[in-house]
Amino acid sequence: MKPTLLSIANISKDFSSSGHRLAALDNVSLTIAAGETLGLVGASGSGKSTLSRILLRLLPCDAGSICFEGEDWLALNGASLRRKRARMQMVFQDPLAAFNPLASVAAVLDDPLRIHGIVPRDQRAGEIAVLLDRVGLPASYAGRPIRTLSGGQRQRVAIARSIATRPSLLVLDEAVSALDVTVRGKVLELLVSLQKEQGIACLFISHDLAVVRAVSHRIAVMDRGRIVETGHAAAIVAEPKSAAGRALVEAVPRLVTNPS
Ligand SMILES: Nc1ncnc2c1ncn2[C@@H]1O[C@H](COP(=O)(O)OP(=O)(O)O)[C@@H](O)[C@H]1O
Ligand SMILES: [Mg+2]
Repeated sequence: MKPTLLSIANISKDFSSSGHRLAALDNVSLTIAAGETLGLVGASGSGKSTLSRILLRLLPCDAGSICFEGEDWLALNGASLRRKRARMQMVFQDPLAAFNPLASVAAVLDDPLRIHGIVPRDQRAGEIAVLLDRVGLPASYAGRPIRTLSGGQRQRVAIARSIATRPSLLVLDEAVSALDVTVRGKVLELLVSLQKEQGIACLFISHDLAVVRAVSHRIAVMDRGRIVETGHAAAIVAEPKSAAGRALVEAVPRLVTNPS
């Protein structure tokens, strides 16, 4: 049994909009072991992104606690939070959309190396080449502007950026949802190989059970702000116990192993 890397306990979050309250998260708990990929799947609006934003400290929660690498993650702030952020990195649906489209791939990868002081200045170009190689892009891509890359290539750069700080956990929120099927398959293969080679744990979030199934050891199913079941990926897909789990399996015809 691998040691626990992340433990989320009883996280709740309400939103109030136009006078009524919505429990976006209701007592959510989950754990991820070192090197493990946990898939978080649920219909649109079930609270997945809210959980990822709380986890990444982009949004405060109302109640609950998070222990990450043995530390009280929600209690960290200032310099200690900035330092620790290197260990938990994120990949969103189109993370590079926030960048200047004229910025080069090298500039995008140089940022985290510089900010977190990962390698000395004179070794950064070499480190960028290593990162590109790790995500299956030629070193010559360093000089290319972001806007000249395809969606799949951009997501590879985003993954390279996320692993630049040598994190123990990646949080991927709908990271392949915008990619077409063939490219998506390749990016999923890349994630699985990175996870195997480098032992990086992942919280892999998607509304699509087929995608989650392809990369996850275990799967947690979310429904209306709650985790309604958690189990080994194969077991959840073969025999979902919750109504939400069954609906997600039925939404992906090729996952149904025993059609009646
Ligand atoms: N900033 C916000 N203000 C009000 N409601 C929000 C906000 N963010 C999310 N919600 C609501 O919280 C619920 C969960 O949203 P979200 O976490 O984005 O779900 P998912 O990522 O699973 O699609 C939805 O009903 C959404 O409308
Ligand atoms: Mg979402």
